[in-house]
Amino acid sequence: MRHIISIRDMDRGEIDAILDETERIQEGRYDPHSLSGKILALLFFEPSTRTRMSFESAMARLGGTSITVGSVEATSIAKGETLADTIRVVSGYADAIVLRHPREGAARLASEFASVPVINAGDGAGQHPSQTLLDLYTIRQSMPLDNIDVGLLGDLRYGRTVHSLASALGLYRVRLHIISPEGLELPPALTTELREQGMEVIEHSSVEEALPLLDVLYVTRIQRERFPDAESYFNVAASYRITPDLISSKAKQHLVILHPLPRLEEIDPGVDSLRSARYFLQAKNGVPVRMAMLGRVIP
Ligand code: NCD
Repeated sequence: MRHIISIRDMDRGEIDAILDETERIQEGRYDPHSLSGKILALLFFEPSTRTRMSFESAMARLGGTSITVGSVEATSIAKGETLADTIRVVSGYADAIVLRHPREGAARLASEFASVPVINAGDGAGQHPSQTLLDLYTIRQSMPLDNIDVGLLGDLRYGRTVHSLASALGLYRVRLHIISPEGLELPPALTTELREQGMEVIEHSSVEEALPLLDVLYVTRIQRERFPDAESYFNVAASYRITPDLISSKAKQHLVILHPLPRLEEIDPGVDSLRSARYFLQAKNGVPVRMAMLGRVIP
């Protein structure tokens, strides 16, 4: 049984195979009935628009069905049921489970109790592997994943998308530029691990400094829900913003700007119409990438 819990469980061969399959799917080369009769359970204990709907859309495009619960308040979790018991039960209703949970490690725990494959759709500040696969896919649409400079901007401490993405980029020949408000740096253990793997990781004090070097700029919002209190959030909120002027004065012509979304103040809407802005395309790529993932894990 194949779970997808962390991008760190995958090697480059496996990631490339999923991206190649995504490309075939996008060209229309897939069987729209391949998951007919199969059921996917979506268990989302945190808000989601893209991840949840694109998994549903992916399942429907392969002929399968999705089941879900309206909200945590509407489930037995609200009565005090453990995650382990919920997962054991839902395993009996579906052929795979997609789980989003506020606690880091929840998906790994769930996989120990599940009798069907579990896909991690975000575990607290931990990992978000399906997002990373669609991030890599979107980069690969514009340039090879080798010998490029990728900048990560924003909340690198609590952002699970950047944790997953940084680990995945460690498998490719990528120079990583990190730019974050004070106190929201990439976890030191991750930075050390990436450097030990041979990755060049360069810290910058401002986006202006990093921008001229970059082929890809990956922007993230500050993860307000993971802050211990409102004050520490307001100290860093709105401390960086990408504007059309900044892009035209500092960026390379071919820069690709990505964002996992939702976007708050960190990208000026004026950037949306620039050729560099690829974040809505990136969100759209979530469907074929998740089709490729579902095709792999559902027996
Ligand atoms: C991200 C997440 O949930 O981690 N959203 C997403 O899945 N596209 C990013 C975020 O919430 O900031």
